[in-house]
Amino acid sequence: MSAVVIVGAQWGDEGKGKIVDIYTEFAEVVVRYAGGPNAGHTLVVNGDKLVVRLLPSAVLRPQTRCVLGQGMVVDPTVLVGEIDELIRRGHKDLESRLLLSDRAHLILPYHILIDELRENAAAASNKAIGTTKKGIGPTYEDKVRRTGVRTGELKDLAKLEARISAALAAWKPTIESLGGSVPDAREIVNALRPLAARLVPLLGNASLVTDEAIKTGKRVMLEGAQGTLLDVDHGTYPYVTSSSAVAGGAAIGAGIGPNRISSVIGITKAYTTRVGGGPFPTELNDATGQHLRDVGDEYGSVTRRPRRTGWLDLPALNYASRVNGIDGLALTKLDVLTGLDEIKICVAYDTPEGRVTDLPIDLLDDPTQA
Ligand code: IMP
Repeated sequence: MSAVVIVGAQWGDEGKGKIVDIYTEFAEVVVRYAGGPNAGHTLVVNGDKLVVRLLPSAVLRPQTRCVLGQGMVVDPTVLVGEIDELIRRGHKDLESRLLLSDRAHLILPYHILIDELRENAAAASNKAIGTTKKGIGPTYEDKVRRTGVRTGELKDLAKLEARISAALAAWKPTIESLGGSVPDAREIVNALRPLAARLVPLLGNASLVTDEAIKTGKRVMLEGAQGTLLDVDHGTYPYVTSSSAVAGGAAIGAGIGPNRISSVIGITKAYTTRVGGGPFPTELNDATGQHLRDVGDEYGSVTRRPRRTGWLDLPALNYASRVNGIDGLALTKLDVLTGLDEIKICVAYDTPEGRVTDLPIDLLDDPTQA
């Protein structure tokens, strides 16, 4: 029985795609367990380079079953676009290898609208989280508020329209207070019609399929997105994403028991990056930071947003090791440090309470104290 979790040990962009790719040569099933199109995994297999935001990183491996787990939030337009792009590139059998959990939540146009309106309003007061504006936060909010719409509901569009109308009624005050106008439920459903026709055949019980695969001795990989310090519980809250990115989230997001997981592999770069706002104790705003950005190509794989860069932070890594139960670490991008006269590593923090070696996540809540 073998299920391995691959988890980002920093603020995302650790090079998980590359490590996942090495592992998937041996994996029969790969399950992505959290997040949505806020991720951007760059894949290169046999010279074929592709950025995927929703599909698991194993999509280019013809023998691998790819599962989008119920912990994910799925933008149907993005997903169908990715499937079509892969089919165009010759991966004709992709849909037969793909399983979309019927319990994942749908990102709908109003989620993206709210994310954008909020970020724009927050930017005006310098309080923006710097989200990817893909609707991630509002979709997870709908999930916990119990007004979300799940992929399985694409099977019955008449019912879906009623569910969307109820969600829009709940969001109306927010949208209007931010200066937006509430979209029409019927128009949303009409736009969903062709997408539903493509996605409904892919729907299934991802939990059952994943558990069966593990029980029958298949090698299963549980692929994380974002990173530990962006996790909604364990990250630098509130400058986090809205999902459970840590290894514990793999059990929930894939729908398996935690005892089914045999090991956890953390991925870290030899230095640190983060995208968006929030604390970053080892950040470098100088020529060395620019070296890391340029040599490491630290620009968002989807948006090309420049990433913030800094030295490797060992207390943060140690923290990630603890909250994930990391059994092994993969270190990426060591070569980016080549040519630097001096390489520094953070081993402790000086805080108002003295020197500490555990990540003072509470102090970090206020970036001015970082
Ligand atoms: P959201 O996930 O779009 O809501 O963004 C919340 C925060 O997580 C922002 O600071 C984003 O920049 C960050 N974030 C989300 N996904 C990624 C990722 O894949 N890599 C790095 N940062 C990310």
